[in-house]
Amino acid sequence: MCGIVGYSGEKNASELLPSCLRKLDYRGYDSFGFAVQANPTIAVEKHAGRLDGFTSQLPESKLGIAHTRWATHGSVTEKNAHPHMSCDGSIAVVHNGIIENYSELREQLKQQGHKFVSETDSEVIPHLIEGLLAQGKSFEEAVRETCDSLQGTFALLILNKESNKLVAARKGSPLVIGVGKNENFVASDVTAFIEFTKDVIFLDDNELAIVDGNVEVQNFSTGKKLDKKVSKIEWDAEQAEKSGYKHFMLKEIFEQPEAAQKCLQGRIKDGKVVLPELEGRDEKLKEINRVIIVACGTSWHAGLVAEYIMEELVGLPVEVEYASEFRYRNPIVDDKCLVIVVSQSGETADTLAALREAKKKGALVISICNVMGSTIARESHSTIYNRAGPEIGVASTKAFTTQLIVLTLVSLYLADLIKSNPLEKQREILSALQEIPDKMQQTVDESNQVLAIAKKYWEKPNALYLGRGPNFPIALEGALKLKEISYLHAEGMSAAEMKHGPIALIDSDMPAIFVAVKDKTYNKILANIEEIKARGGTVIAVASPADKEMEGNVAEVMHIAKTIELLQPLLTVLPLQLLAYYIADIRECDIDKPRNLAKSVTVE
Ligand code: AGP
Repeated sequence: MCGIVGYSGEKNASELLPSCLRKLDYRGYDSFGFAVQANPTIAVEKHAGRLDGFTSQLPESKLGIAHTRWATHGSVTEKNAHPHMSCDGSIAVVHNGIIENYSELREQLKQQGHKFVSETDSEVIPHLIEGLLAQGKSFEEAVRETCDSLQGTFALLILNKESNKLVAARKGSPLVIGVGKNENFVASDVTAFIEFTKDVIFLDDNELAIVDGNVEVQNFSTGKKLDKKVSKIEWDAEQAEKSGYKHFMLKEIFEQPEAAQKCLQGRIKDGKVVLPELEGRDEKLKEINRVIIVACGTSWHAGLVAEYIMEELVGLPVEVEYASEFRYRNPIVDDKCLVIVVSQSGETADTLAALREAKKKGALVISICNVMGSTIARESHSTIYNRAGPEIGVASTKAFTTQLIVLTLVSLYLADLIKSNPLEKQREILSALQEIPDKMQQTVDESNQVLAIAKKYWEKPNALYLGRGPNFPIALEGALKLKEISYLHAEGMSAAEMKHGPIALIDSDMPAIFVAVKDKTYNKILANIEEIKARGGTVIAVASPADKEMEGNVAEVMHIAKTIELLQPLLTVLPLQLLAYYIADIRECDIDKPRNLAKSVTVE
């Protein structure tokens, strides 16, 4: 996730901005840059890499903007780092978000003679403003019109060499103004400037702010001036980094609606899935007769859920393999086989080795990664990014749900390509998928019901997680989450397998957590629940909304929002993530950095 900061005031922006930008470190980044007003020009400095040890070469200035980039369009290079400039160097822009219509805009601008130097979507913005200024528009008018012409999401900071103001605009990406004494800040979040001021104005979508000694906010579509409230931040600097959440994991759990939105953005058009990442691969994809998904840990669980979705939608056999096992077998793979490699970090050693093995055997390899430019992304034939933003907590949460979304999109893409499913069915799934961010929000909004359950059961030393169909891998994922952050023993399995042995474990110290939503195995699950209760076990259920029958049958219920059967795993996992989090928190575990674990497992 990119981070942006702007400053206008009495201090030297060239010295101040690097230290503000460092406060946004936790957002993750791969390159950075600055622009300051250096009358009569704008001075710019950009670098690929990290801010560690960086000292600015910029001239002294009272006005500037800065950016850390988390690459989404174009590789990690100095040229792709922000700020981006207009042809004449008079406009500098930093951008957080994704401009969906950038390729059309770029073509139009090129035809008008604009020259582009980067591969980014963001670079269209300074050129659009430059074009409008050339038509005689004022700086503010030019920014307003530009904002109106952009599709997608953005938080923007803009400098114009002719003006001593900076302009900020927001649509879909966060932006907050810090109101200080004789100085003002604008940033992606308050962490960047909290040591200087705790008085803030949160910008809303479609708003633009003109920042100099004063702050003026207006709606960029109507130009109407707005009377915005100044709020007081109550957090300290450390809490601010986590946007007020106690841990990154909790922040990332609650970020899932936004991450899902970003993951879907621009990927569904006119009732179809659009994946430019697969461009040029259609002929090969039409020939495949088998899909193998390889991954480790939570990413493997995403693959297991996808097995159900893909087999139902695409009608091809799907196998899901631990990357570590795949690489040491002699897997039957040929050029009719599609291998999908799933890895949040893109650096997991076993997954990388499996990818190389699959390529050697002639398979087409598509990876699903969250980290741009990671080794797995670079070595795959095509990569589709999750766009979840950096995941800092070791326990994977938003990466998991966005992996599931990408896997669903790939399934629908293949279904459309090989005509394996009626169009209406695909459309029905697509429209439910577009509602998922809202449904996720409704589900995490019920976090209090999960906290109450955690408070009751946190001392139990064991837990069984049970589910059927696409919710069986969610039971595995729920158990893994509890294990890795609370160090409690938990086992996940198919609810149907319980009677083949594990039921012997049931006693009052082993709560059984069932994913028991309304689907085709609902009645079977109800029978499994009775089997547990008959043996003195306690049942906690993840249930469909207003399922009174379930409420009457079990000790505790965590409800999810309503969606279609195939997409339920995107919601059923949320209370299980929260349950693991709250139990680990009550047990005072080191949640973001659990013992013995690393975020990216680069050893075999
Ligand atoms: C999940 O919470 C884990 N920390 C772990 O299982 C992880 O999913 C696994 O190591 C794979 O990582 P990757 O997605 O980065 O390849």
